[in-house]
Amino acid sequence: MNLSTREFHLIKNLVYDKFGIHLGEHKKSLVVQRLQKELWNGGFSSFKEYYDYVTQDSSGQALRILGDLISTNHTYFFREEAHFEFLKSTVLPQLTASLQDRGEKELRIWCAGCSSGEEPYSLAMILSDYDVECSPGIESYILATDIAATALRKAVAGVYAKDQVSRVPLLYRMRYLENLYDGQWMVKEKIRKKVLFRRLNLMRREYPFKKCFQIIFCRNVMIYFDESTRNQMTARFSRYLEPGGYLFIGHSETLDRSSGLYQFIQPAVYQRE
Ligand SMILES: C[S@@+](CC[C@H](N)C(=O)[O-])C[C@H]1O[C@@H](n2cnc3c(N)ncnc32)[C@H](O)[C@@H]1O
Repeated sequence: MNLSTREFHLIKNLVYDKFGIHLGEHKKSLVVQRLQKELWNGGFSSFKEYYDYVTQDSSGQALRILGDLISTNHTYFFREEAHFEFLKSTVLPQLTASLQDRGEKELRIWCAGCSSGEEPYSLAMILSDYDVECSPGIESYILATDIAATALRKAVAGVYAKDQVSRVPLLYRMRYLENLYDGQWMVKEKIRKKVLFRRLNLMRREYPFKKCFQIIFCRNVMIYFDESTRNQMTARFSRYLEPGGYLFIGHSETLDRSSGLYQFIQPAVYQRE
């Protein structure tokens, strides 16, 4: 189906307003590729007709499906491994000691833009190891959020193909994954229980959290946003991150250092002032 320049701009602006995702001019064919099936299935005769349907659907369901289809969910276990090493060697010892000093027991991590679960499960494996070996008495949990319902369903199921788990270190694979003997692996309940998955659009002005987090992972999400959306979002994150808490972003992403909200610690790692 043909996508005219005018139709592309309607969809591009809608996607930007609702999800913050910036679709450059070169993304026209990607929009066709991602939405074509939905148009056929829904019996729409043009992208304009589909656009009208999405914008007029008061249930919000059509918009949710659009977000699901347009978002890029590529992810894998232990992506950007240096972050996990830094977490183990520096962040967890520091934060758990500080919790113990304050007589607190809860270490809260938010994985924003968690896609199909590989990132929060990688974190849960690290935490599980750490809990057992280094910080008795501290309970850790992970809130993992995304806009993409399909990716979240996969995350909740916690079942991955053999090649998807190949990056999980052997020791962790043995401890935390179960071989289903049909070429698939399932994340064990002990790890699944550590992660709570929820649908959340990061474009919301307020997030529905009662308590602040000590760690936020938001990696390879803001890469799809423009500078002003990125800056607003990282400023918003600072309201949900405890002072001294850590923000991890993707290695190809940047953060506005002039805001004074975060201190640069090392590439793609920042600490709340
Ligand atoms: C490329 S994946 C990154 C997954 C993981 N963080 C990683 O680094 O491997 C980007 C994720 O951000 C999510 N995303 C994009 N825009 C979003 C928004 N406005 N609110 C919530 N999630 C969003 C997408 O659905 C997608 O799952």
